[in-house]
Amino acid sequence: MKKTIRDYDLFGKKVIIRVDFNVPIKDNNILDDNRIVMSLDTIKYAIEKGAKVILMSHLGRIKEQSDCNKNSLKIVSERLEQLLNKKVIFINTTRGKELEDAVSNLKNGEVLLMENTRFEDLNGKLESGNDDDLAKYWASLGDIFINDAFGTCHRSHASNVGISSHLDNGIGFLVEKELNSFKLLDNPKRPYTVILGGAKVSDKIGVIENLCKVCDYILVGGGMAYTFLQALSYNIGKSIVDEESIDFCKKMLNNYKDKIILPTDSITSKTIGMNPVLKNNDNFDSDDIGLDIGEKSIEHFIDILKDSNTIVWNGPLGYYENDIYANGTKSILNYLKDSDKIVIIGGGDTAAAAINFGYENAFTHISTGGGASLELLEGKELPGIKIIDEKE
Ligand code: 3PG
Repeated sequence: MKKTIRDYDLFGKKVIIRVDFNVPIKDNNILDDNRIVMSLDTIKYAIEKGAKVILMSHLGRIKEQSDCNKNSLKIVSERLEQLLNKKVIFINTTRGKELEDAVSNLKNGEVLLMENTRFEDLNGKLESGNDDDLAKYWASLGDIFINDAFGTCHRSHASNVGISSHLDNGIGFLVEKELNSFKLLDNPKRPYTVILGGAKVSDKIGVIENLCKVCDYILVGGGMAYTFLQALSYNIGKSIVDEESIDFCKKMLNNYKDKIILPTDSITSKTIGMNPVLKNNDNFDSDDIGLDIGEKSIEHFIDILKDSNTIVWNGPLGYYENDIYANGTKSILNYLKDSDKIVIIGGGDTAAAAINFGYENAFTHISTGGGASLELLEGKELPGIKIIDEKE
């Protein structure tokens, strides 16, 4: 068992908490603050215990100077201040005297947020490359390190793996909740059904291979369904297809023909956003684009879900961002909401869809990790977790 924030006496200590505040921002507005909200339990706990709280996070990807202007954490610090109803000291740099003085001057229960850790990527990818000097420097700012950035645990950065190797450490409440939820899949109550969607098969080859071995059914939707249908020689018109994954799909369909369930009908358009038409698999015109699963497929998927006891879902079932292709994703969310089954929504776009449609509290767990949750589903160990000390 990993050490957690509960294992430390935080009073008067400088506690560095790595959070994942990598939230979508457009025109200076935070579009979805779920990751900030989900980090509050750990931050509030540290405040209540009298810690001097130092928060670190990355935001976006930083390749050139202009990326810094678009990816400052200042706007996040303002949102955090509202959510905590407490002053957050924002330091607009990632190293130097101003940061060090601000850390030294912190009083018990105060909160400081440092600027985007990936600003350190400008000069040689020091953050993303887990530069040890940078990790040591950041570690020197604190007494204890808590990793609560689940969404970043699949990355080996200076601000997570690096600092962990130089300080007493543990996980926060969000990481603990995420790991406990995914642990339910180690010994699932059967039947165990996976819903898999999203655009490309190639992004999820490891997940498909791993889950096919352990689950009872895989319901495939979204763009990736058309690569599977192409592998079965259907005419899929102009639907998205992942040419390099066709052989992989053939192999999977061969090995797991009773487990892999494909849509039998789709909502198609000839131009995205125009004239949606319901079509069976064998009725596609050469210029049709499949954009959502159809009614018969929804019914069939629900029949299988009715009998299932554990369900994990990764990837929307259609191009849900456009309302005319959202019915498949919405119908399945609606069927699964508030059920007594174990339902784990595996982060990324599926989590965004569930939250956008108002289902944020309707499931066993909605993961805050996109890539991190995919790697767990692949059966991989996350470096950000591996480095954390075990309880004695
Ligand atoms: C995420 O959004 O999945 C995490 O914050 C990691 O971000 P990254 O893919 O830019 O490393």
